[in-house]
Amino acid sequence: MVAKMTLPEKVNITTGTGWMMGPAVGNTGPALEVGFPALFLQDGPLGIRFTDNATAFPAGITVGATWNKELMYQWGNAHAVEARKKGINAILGPCVGPLGRMPAGGRNWEGFGADPYLQGIAGAKAVKGIQDEGVMATIKHLVANEQEHFRQSFEWGLANAISSNVDDRTMHELYLWPFGDAVKAGVASIMCSYNQINNSYACGNSKLLNGLLRDEMGFQGFVMSDWLAQRGGVSSALAGLDMTMPGDGLFWANGKSLWGPELTRSVLNGSVPLDRLNDMVTRIVAAWYQMGQDDETKFSPKGPNFSSWTDAEKGVSSPGSPTEQEEHTVNEFVNVMGNHSALARQIAAEGTVLLKNEGLLPITRDGRTPSGKVKKEGEPLRIAIFGEDAGPGKGANFCKDRACNQGTLASGWGSGSVEFPYLVSPDEALSKAWDSKRVKVTAQLTNSPSLRTRSDILEEADICIVFANSDSGEGFVAWDNVAQNCHSGDGAVLVVIHTVGPVIMERWIDLPNVKAVLLANLPGQESGNALADVILGDVNPSGKLPWTIGRALDDYGEGGKVMYKPNGLLPQQDFKEGLYIDYRFFDKYDIEPRFEFGFGLSYTNFEFANCVVKTVRPKTAMPAPRPKDFAPPPEYDTTIPDPQEALFPSAIRRLEKYVYPYLDSVDDIVSDPYPYPDGYDVQQPLSGAGGDEGGNPDLWETYVEVSVDITNTGSTQGQAVPQLYLSYPNSATVDFPIKVLRGFDKLLLEKGETRTVTFNLTRRDLSYWDVTAQNWVMVVEGEYKFMVGRSSRDLLVSGTW
Ligand code: NOJ
Repeated sequence: MVAKMTLPEKVNITTGTGWMMGPAVGNTGPALEVGFPALFLQDGPLGIRFTDNATAFPAGITVGATWNKELMYQWGNAHAVEARKKGINAILGPCVGPLGRMPAGGRNWEGFGADPYLQGIAGAKAVKGIQDEGVMATIKHLVANEQEHFRQSFEWGLANAISSNVDDRTMHELYLWPFGDAVKAGVASIMCSYNQINNSYACGNSKLLNGLLRDEMGFQGFVMSDWLAQRGGVSSALAGLDMTMPGDGLFWANGKSLWGPELTRSVLNGSVPLDRLNDMVTRIVAAWYQMGQDDETKFSPKGPNFSSWTDAEKGVSSPGSPTEQEEHTVNEFVNVMGNHSALARQIAAEGTVLLKNEGLLPITRDGRTPSGKVKKEGEPLRIAIFGEDAGPGKGANFCKDRACNQGTLASGWGSGSVEFPYLVSPDEALSKAWDSKRVKVTAQLTNSPSLRTRSDILEEADICIVFANSDSGEGFVAWDNVAQNCHSGDGAVLVVIHTVGPVIMERWIDLPNVKAVLLANLPGQESGNALADVILGDVNPSGKLPWTIGRALDDYGEGGKVMYKPNGLLPQQDFKEGLYIDYRFFDKYDIEPRFEFGFGLSYTNFEFANCVVKTVRPKTAMPAPRPKDFAPPPEYDTTIPDPQEALFPSAIRRLEKYVYPYLDSVDDIVSDPYPYPDGYDVQQPLSGAGGDEGGNPDLWETYVEVSVDITNTGSTQGQAVPQLYLSYPNSATVDFPIKVLRGFDKLLLEKGETRTVTFNLTRRDLSYWDVTAQNWVMVVEGEYKFMVGRSSRDLLVSGTW
């Protein structure tokens, strides 16, 4: 198919048509003559953005907090079912970067938690879930886009975007790691980020895109730019970018693409080798075939049945263009939700973390609590709900892109947010949850400080449920809000927190009347129902923290702080802490967290025993040589085509600002190849870490198995989340974190039941990135230690290897 395309057809596939020049947030041009359609790409990681009748799923961070691989898969899969039914070819998710270096990083909530292993597993499961449905997944944002401030220049009044300066080992072991899992899972697309990495823009960084991603990680799909993250035309083509989004160049909606006609010109004048363009196109076309999107019985070639730009039924196809256009039906209001509310509810419930419970939860339907102390004899139990975060506010969609904090918080803001079809608030669910004869529920859905003095309400209440939240989002909108908190002086208090990340709880967590704390993350549309499931005990909590809750921001170290003021015209953010973020930092500097990474209580209890370590393959320092039988890329005729091919066809009605691949004149084109530096066309040595999709296949082989028996010793059924952490052998030459997560599972155990869980550790899991060898290296001297338990600081059994 690619061989048959004309030059403008090839270019059309690589370049978005411009902002708002099509129904989706990203739209490419087709290659009609050969049967390749326009592609439609839509945010975001959490559901389908800018549409109706689609599910508002829990956020990535809530999915991460479930520690449930099956739910990670199902979350992606359900999202893709909806995308396909809405006519979307590629979902702009999942998100595994930011990783979570800074607890207040604006977009951490779109991803799965501040640990590369957790992010990697969750991202890969979501990718599989999405792509099994024939929709392309886009893993984003590559890479080290850890903060929103100064992520690009144009929104922050700077000449250049921030540079994340990351050393080679940290890049491999932390920030790139989850992308490796996604590549291994066969992800179709990768979105390069806005920021610079070591002072080279991500979307024009050859080391990153050609080196790390393609050579080392064997990525076979296409790299698309984040929206306006492309900063140079020829340079980004040579650096490995394959698709520019939304197609406009350096500014929104100006129609002046760095590619489009300029890429056509660059190929004709020899600046961009035709080979490179063929490679871009092959990658995109191959992804389309691999998803089976050429099969019209499975994937409608009609494109989206909705418009991102209007809620009305009728509208124009390219509202970004000032050219007058005829209206037609753009919104068909297709309901694609199916039964996904059940899944959304399950994820929200399993992603709720019980942080504290002193005999208060669950509160049964007839008003009993485990301690039984709160209820006055013969009277109904009185539960008083406090806080704006419990209520509907002005409606879930009150603020554009959810960029304000009002009512209950069920999502962060920005491109990761969606239009809520509905939002069950905690108040709505809880006011109906209990037997009304036994339990009386009242609610004060405000944060007004005057609540503290409402002794009439407070003294009446047996139990106060206090809601608080903390919001953040993408840097194209700014909203300043601090977590609200309050406490009641009377009765037992349950604090419920909806949050985008860790929040400091020191002011109230130890108050004697704060008996229970639930951290419900960002639960999506089923918020209240899921919360009620946990509070009433219909669902035994099994969520675990996907990051550490410190006692102060300082506890996370200097690296944990967002740079709010640029430290220069080209802001430089040095990732000096290297590998030591989140729990790795707390461990290294022996800082006691308030709640550690992986922590979460249950209504039952689990004991761990019999840690058995079994060698599957012997330890060897270096991986096997990379395979040699890798299929070569397709070969094409590389003769530069006749420039006349690129002329604007007279039959086309041109829309102003729309990005076309054509040129008005080719008279000035001189084929004078760009003076590439000497050695440009000499093949570089291939990386020993590469060789297949996901890198050297040996990295994915299991070398050791660790199994542990887990028993439910409590009084009720529940799901255990065994976590395996690894300590590397002592080394005089290499500095290792005290421990790193390298396995987790989730299993349902009946009261009294014992089951064995087995963890497979791969060569990659056991290796570190050796910057001299430029490869993953296993430590052969000394002993690895594997520790398994309930959280990163509650490790009950261990074994060595
Ligand atoms: C910018 C965001 O960073 C990215 O995540 C998103 O997919 C695009 N905008 C498109 O909305």
